[in-house]
Amino acid sequence: MIISMIAAMGSNRVIGKNNDIPWHLPDDFQYFKDSTKGHYVLMGRKNFESLPPRFKPLPDRPNVVITRNKQYEAKGAQVVYSLEEALQVAEIAGEEEVFIIGGGEIYRLGLEFAERIYLTEIESEYEGDTYFPEFDKNSWQEVSRKHHPSDERHKSAFDFVIYEKK
Ligand SMILES: NC(=O)c1ccc[n+]([C@@H]2O[C@H](COP(=O)([O-])OP(=O)(O)OC[C@H]3O[C@@H](n4cnc5c(N)ncnc54)[C@H](OP(=O)(O)O)[C@@H]3O)[C@@H](O)[C@H]2O)c1
Repeated sequence: MIISMIAAMGSNRVIGKNNDIPWHLPDDFQYFKDSTKGHYVLMGRKNFESLPPRFKPLPDRPNVVITRNKQYEAKGAQVVYSLEEALQVAEIAGEEEVFIIGGGEIYRLGLEFAERIYLTEIESEYEGDTYFPEFDKNSWQEVSRKHHPSDERHKSAFDFVIYEKK
């Protein structure tokens, strides 16, 4: 099973503010949907709660929510108590590529396990309170980069980048 992370971050590594995403980039959202559809998605409890009602759970893919709270219930999602347990759930189900989809705490935990990172690098800085972790560029190589210019629907340009562990 390939363990992947997928995220979008500003040029100052911001990924979130007040439990929300501080930009509106529809083509990036579409990229997230296309990349993760049909695959297990693993997320922190705060990320799950931040999803808008119509995307909670994210449709057409098994959702796994990570919490330390043994009483926690997440409608439409499986609840587990560690990232390792979440990875095990996907592995046992025969998943070929599992996606760690954040937020910040879970990405930090995920770096140790991930072999691939789908990172949308936005060419603007944002105010925020949650960051994508620094990762050692000596241990990761960029294998793909596709540019998306700004336009009437996208205030900022961005790149779809894929990194793989060396
Ligand atoms: N730009 C992007 O690509 C992107 C993607 C996803 C999310 N986000 C943003 O990221 C922000 C949320 O990130 P966050 O860092 O605040 O929270 P998070 O990573 O989504 O969730 C944190 C929660 O995960 C659980 N957790 C963390 N470590 C754990 C461990 N070792 N064992 C078991 N459970 C553990 C805890 O839940 P309990 O407190 O219930 O125990 C913790 O409060 C939001 O602003 C969201 O919009 C951005």
